[in-house]
Amino acid sequence: MRFQLFISLACTWQLVLGSAAVFNWPDPLLDNIDDQLYVDRFSPISFATLECAGRDLTTVAAQWMRLAFHDFATHDSEAGTGGLDASIVFELDRPQNIGMGQRRTLVDFLNSPTEYVGMADMIAMGVVSAVFGCGGPVIPFRAGRIDATEAGPETVPEPQQNLTSHIDAFKRMGFNETEMIGLLACGHVLGGVRQADFPLIVTPNLPTGVAFQAPVTFNNSIVHEYLDSTTINVLEVGPNITTRSDLRIFSSDGNVTMKRLASADVFNQECTSLFERMINTVPSTVTLTDPVEPINYKVSGTMLYPRDGSLAFLATLRILDSSFFEKPNTTVTMFWKERQGTFCPEAGCSVESFQLDYDIASLMALDTYGIFQMDLFRFNATIDLNTSISHFWFVVDPKNGSAPFIVDNHGANFTIDQDVVLYDAGRSSFTNSGTVMVVAVKDDSGNTSVTANTMVSGNPLAPWPVNGTVTTNFALDASHPPADGYTFYSSPIPEKVLSNTIHATVAGTAHSVWVPVLQVPGI
Ligand code: HEM
Ligand SMILES: *[C@@H]1O[C@H](CO)[C@@H](O)[C@H](O)[C@H]1NC(C)=O
Ligand SMILES: *[C@@H]1O[C@H](CO)[C@@H](O)[C@H](O)[C@H]1NC(C)=O
Ligand SMILES: *[C@@H]1O[C@H](CO)[C@@H](O)[C@H](O)[C@H]1NC(C)=O
Ligand SMILES: *[C@@H]1O[C@H](CO)[C@@H](O)[C@H](O)[C@H]1NC(C)=O
Ligand SMILES: *[C@@H]1O[C@H](CO)[C@@H](O)[C@H](O)[C@H]1NC(C)=O
Ligand SMILES: *[C@@H]1O[C@H](CO)[C@@H](O)[C@H](O)[C@H]1NC(C)=O
Ligand SMILES: *[C@@H]1O[C@H](CO)[C@@H](O)[C@H](O)[C@H]1NC(C)=O
Ligand SMILES: *[C@@H]1O[C@H](CO)[C@@H](O)[C@H](O)[C@H]1NC(C)=O
Ligand SMILES: *[C@@H]1O[C@H](CO)[C@@H](O)[C@H](O)[C@H]1NC(C)=O
Ligand SMILES: *[C@@H]1O[C@H](CO)[C@@H](O)[C@H](O)[C@H]1NC(C)=O
Ligand SMILES: *[C@@H]1O[C@H](CO)[C@@H](O)[C@H](O)[C@H]1NC(C)=O
Ligand SMILES: *[C@@H]1O[C@H](CO)[C@@H](O)[C@H](O)[C@H]1NC(C)=O
Repeated sequence: MRFQLFISLACTWQLVLGSAAVFNWPDPLLDNIDDQLYVDRFSPISFATLECAGRDLTTVAAQWMRLAFHDFATHDSEAGTGGLDASIVFELDRPQNIGMGQRRTLVDFLNSPTEYVGMADMIAMGVVSAVFGCGGPVIPFRAGRIDATEAGPETVPEPQQNLTSHIDAFKRMGFNETEMIGLLACGHVLGGVRQADFPLIVTPNLPTGVAFQAPVTFNNSIVHEYLDSTTINVLEVGPNITTRSDLRIFSSDGNVTMKRLASADVFNQECTSLFERMINTVPSTVTLTDPVEPINYKVSGTMLYPRDGSLAFLATLRILDSSFFEKPNTTVTMFWKERQGTFCPEAGCSVESFQLDYDIASLMALDTYGIFQMDLFRFNATIDLNTSISHFWFVVDPKNGSAPFIVDNHGANFTIDQDVVLYDAGRSSFTNSGTVMVVAVKDDSGNTSVTANTMVSGNPLAPWPVNGTVTTNFALDASHPPADGYTFYSSPIPEKVLSNTIHATVAGTAHSVWVPVLQVPGI
């Protein structure tokens, strides 16, 4: 089934989107978003909604969609405030946000934000995943939302409000009456009203606690059921006339919009564009990236640290591959140049990749871009300690009749900004009883202050994990005596750590190193 889909899409996938976000290494935000959207093992959010999975008498997708709408609903388009900013985490106790789905959703996202990727991006990604997982269209995803630090206004529309209030509310959110009808029809495809939370709407004589139909497929049956009066949606035909808000809104323009949405193609197109606008509604101070497409020639897992009289440099180059579990003939060579002095030949020092691994692409990467697997070319370079390394690049030989070509971060080279403060992957330890992170510092005073901003799941300052950074303090570690011009500092790392950024000032210069969690050498 999925394979057939691939065959039919394979020749058109290049045409899907316009300009995509450009990945200039290092970019922790795009790096992480690309993983979550397109790599199977890193995509809890694109995974949990597949087959439109059911939960709590509704679907995971419905719970995620509703949370996103309620987060969005604080937007004031004139003031340029609110929108997709995760302020919902501070608003859960409000009656307008009633429903266990809201908390369930935030728990789903608990382990996904990092220091660089906000909860708001996860909430927005939840919409993309919800629609895709239920068989609907792919909504382009832009990254870079910033998490709010406090609640927004109490402005989520409620079913007992009149039509004028709803028109005004959506206008404030930046959606006119036509768009309000569309967004509502698209959103209410996915779930239903729970009797436990809305006993005045879902009265006991109705057949189920959830009055929208399951199993759910993302399609426009909601429109047809409305137009031919076969719906059982309580917000249209429930016994309580006051709370028939879907009916009031759907009929508010004499059914012109609903009749237009009766075309499946129009419905899919309009839902895509309305959902996209909803999730891209952010405070005016926030700028989003271009849509994130799978990144080709992505460098990741770089680790530089002193090892037995040299510097070890580990790196991975990821190449997108549309073949189906086939070993590529491609060979990749990594080159680098010295940081100071001369050691390498004119053309640079070089090493071949020592290992080829694969990542399985997410279903979204497969269906949208025809990517089955991602080839991971691993490098393990030994760098001269005295001359060190300033930048690196790759030569890829596809061995398919085309000439070898250079991958050099779009002409800028992959630049190593410093070798003074390093995450020492070789001396760090990863055991069941915990992780001890070791930092190597090129400073023999033994008196450098080394700290890390550690992003943990569960922010002590908020009811939910919004940007939960704590400070980790490192101490000189006697179990690792000074070596190769470096001294070693260590600290245990909290169990639920998501990412770290190490900071230290040496000889008056501040250095920092971003360490995505669980970077074990040899993975
Ligand atoms: C006037 C506007 C709206 C009103 C009054 C309204 C009202 C409601 C109510 C009362 C529920 C039942 C919630 C529960 O029992 O947990 C619901 C569910 C839902 N709403 Fe809306 N809604 C509106 C607009 C929207 C929009 C624009 C979207 C999405 C773009 C949306 C998405 C959803 C989803 C997905 C559910 C199902 C949740 C689940 O099954 O867990 N709603 N809505
Ligand atoms: C995380 O918090 C820091 C400090 O408050 C802020 O500068 C940064 O923008 C936040 N990041 C996100 C993704 O919200
Ligand atoms: C709609 O509700 C608002 C707010 O409760 C109220 O001020 C307004 O008079 C109502 N309009 C109509 C037409 O009932
Ligand atoms: C809403 O805006 C769309 C274009 O974005 C337009 O086609 C439509 O006519 C507008 N509807 C109203 C009621 O102004
Ligand atoms: C209908 O819903 C409204 C708003 O929730 C409520 O005030 C009213 O009591 C309900 N009517 C009945 C008959 O349950
Ligand atoms: C459309 O969605 C409804 C409700 O999810 C489902 O019952 C129906 O089978 C779907 N129709 C098609 C053609 O997929
Ligand atoms: C709009 O459609 C609804 C549901 O089919 C119907 O009850 C209503 O009469 C229609 N209104 C107009 C103006 O056609
Ligand atoms: C690799 O090369 C062999 C021999 O030239 C060829 O048969 C095979 O199709 C190539 N594989 C790929 C994935 O290009
Ligand atoms: C590094 O430099 C030191 C001092 O200049 C020298 O003694 C040592 O032999 C050099 N090591 C290497 C590997 O070139
Ligand atoms: C060889 O592979 C490269 C890199 O994947 C690709 O750009 C090129 O089009 C391929 N050439 C042929 C002749 O298939
Ligand atoms: C990239 O590295 C190569 C090889 O060291 C060098 O010739 C080139 O000038 C560098 N380019 C930039 C933009 O630094
Ligand atoms: C260590 O550094 C602190 C602050 O930079 C300084 O006050 C202290 O004198 C230093 N101690 C030693 C032994 O150098
Ligand atoms: C990298 O090479 C070094 C030295 O040859 C070796 O000791 C180490 O185990 C290798 N590391 C990995 C991850 O393969």
